Amino acid sequence: MKPPRKLHIKSYGCQMNVYDAQRMVDTLAGEGFVETESADDADLVILNTCHIREKASEKVYSELGRLRVAKDEAARNGREMRIAVAGCVAQAEGEEIIRRAPTVDVVVGPQSYHHLPQLLARAKSEGRALETEFPVEDKFSFLPQPKPAAIRARGISAFVTVQEGCDKFCTFCVVPYTRGAEVSRPVAKIVDDVKRLADNGVREITLIGQNVNAYHGEGPDGRTWPLGKLLHRLAEIEGIARLRYSTSHPRDVEDSLIAAHRDLAGLMPFVHLPVQSGSDRILAAMNRKHTADDYRRVIDRFRTARQDIAFSSDFIVGFPGETEGEFAATLALVMQIGYAAAYSFKYSPRPGTPAADMRETVSAAEMDERLVRLQELIDSQQSAFNRAMIGNTVDVLFERAARNPGQIVGRTAYLQPAHVFASPDIIGQVLPVRIESRERYSLLGELASAPPQAGQSTPSTMMTGA
Ligand code: SAH
Ligand code: SF4
Ligand code: F3S
Repeated sequence: MKPPRKLHIKSYGCQMNVYDAQRMVDTLAGEGFVETESADDADLVILNTCHIREKASEKVYSELGRLRVAKDEAARNGREMRIAVAGCVAQAEGEEIIRRAPTVDVVVGPQSYHHLPQLLARAKSEGRALETEFPVEDKFSFLPQPKPAAIRARGISAFVTVQEGCDKFCTFCVVPYTRGAEVSRPVAKIVDDVKRLADNGVREITLIGQNVNAYHGEGPDGRTWPLGKLLHRLAEIEGIARLRYSTSHPRDVEDSLIAAHRDLAGLMPFVHLPVQSGSDRILAAMNRKHTADDYRRVIDRFRTARQDIAFSSDFIVGFPGETEGEFAATLALVMQIGYAAAYSFKYSPRPGTPAADMRETVSAAEMDERLVRLQELIDSQQSAFNRAMIGNTVDVLFERAARNPGQIVGRTAYLQPAHVFASPDIIGQVLPVRIESRERYSLLGELASAPPQAGQSTPSTMMTGA
């Protein structure tokens, strides 16, 4: 038997890239590849790249510089290391990558990585670097299913892609160009994936899509199902204790999604709902197609359906022409909504997007200053949110042994890491924890009751009946 070949994948960017990286591992497992922690001893290194901001994109080239050294070193030791660039930079820059970094063997975009084995073989036989042409086909019909052992090794929380691409064309964003038009997977395929994951120990599913609540997949009844209906169906699958979804657009929040939050105890009351700005003029220039008040009304609908719901968001500061007053409108919106967490970014002009051609600019100093002010506000809200957990008893889904010996770590409904001293038997269970204290990013507590005996379930592990 041939020894296994070693594969190292480094992923940048969003959850979709994390998911894609796992599917690349599954695809290459069929070719005898096993994953390795370090790039240096790998036979194949894949950089799964992100194009969202200039910094993310430029990282690829510095990483390729380092890999060239490792590749030369491997060659000196009589070993071949091959390098592939996948993900959104691959899609956006294609051949330019091969021109700028001749050390690269293949370039493959996010819609065609199911072709990796053939592409690698062809590049080798032709003795030159190759970029895939991008055939229009559904990669999901070609991707092999992960082996049960691979699923179990990945832990108890898993991503499942339900939707890919975006038709929104926000003027700052590359995603509609790198990930293409919106496509939803059929309900039956998603149900099969989730069942397979549940059968192998997964307890929490996060449905992912660049614009996940635009989901409109074909249902088993031949009709188009929205995300809310899909969530209702997935909540019936035995073994799945928690459901989440990410990332949503405020324009696509249908009543069925609100109803799912009202009806499904297993649908976590924590929603990532990016707003980008609190100024209507900036929102219009961004082509967000909603106002700040529209956003406030969407938040109200969620809150009416589920009182304990919390939100996170994304913000961009320094969009072309953003005035101090317009930035202040963003701060005002944040103050009014009150977030459990949020990400904020300095605007980065991206080639090919309409905003990159806008002539007004915001100075680097102003952008820095606005980012600091916004992040201070968000940090204070996040701290207050976490502090408010102390003294409460909350459900935690336990995921793994923590770094501190004897501790097990899990997550609350709001994705806060929570640590307790307990036996590893509790991994995979949802148990009530009394929160006693907190550190910067995590909570410490004690199990509020003895864990149930094997075969029993606590009320908190059940899906419905809030
Ligand atoms: N719908 C996807 C968008 C992915 S991009 C999602 O929300 O996951 C994630 C975030 O990156 C966006 O919400 C936006 O805040 C930020 N972003 C996108 N393009 C940007 C740019 N050109 N400059 C700065 N931030 C950007
Ligand atoms: Fe980008 Fe806007 Fe689509 Fe989100 S909704 S992926 S920000 S174009
Ligand atoms: Fe980045 Fe592509 Fe995701 S640009 S954020 S990896 S969709």
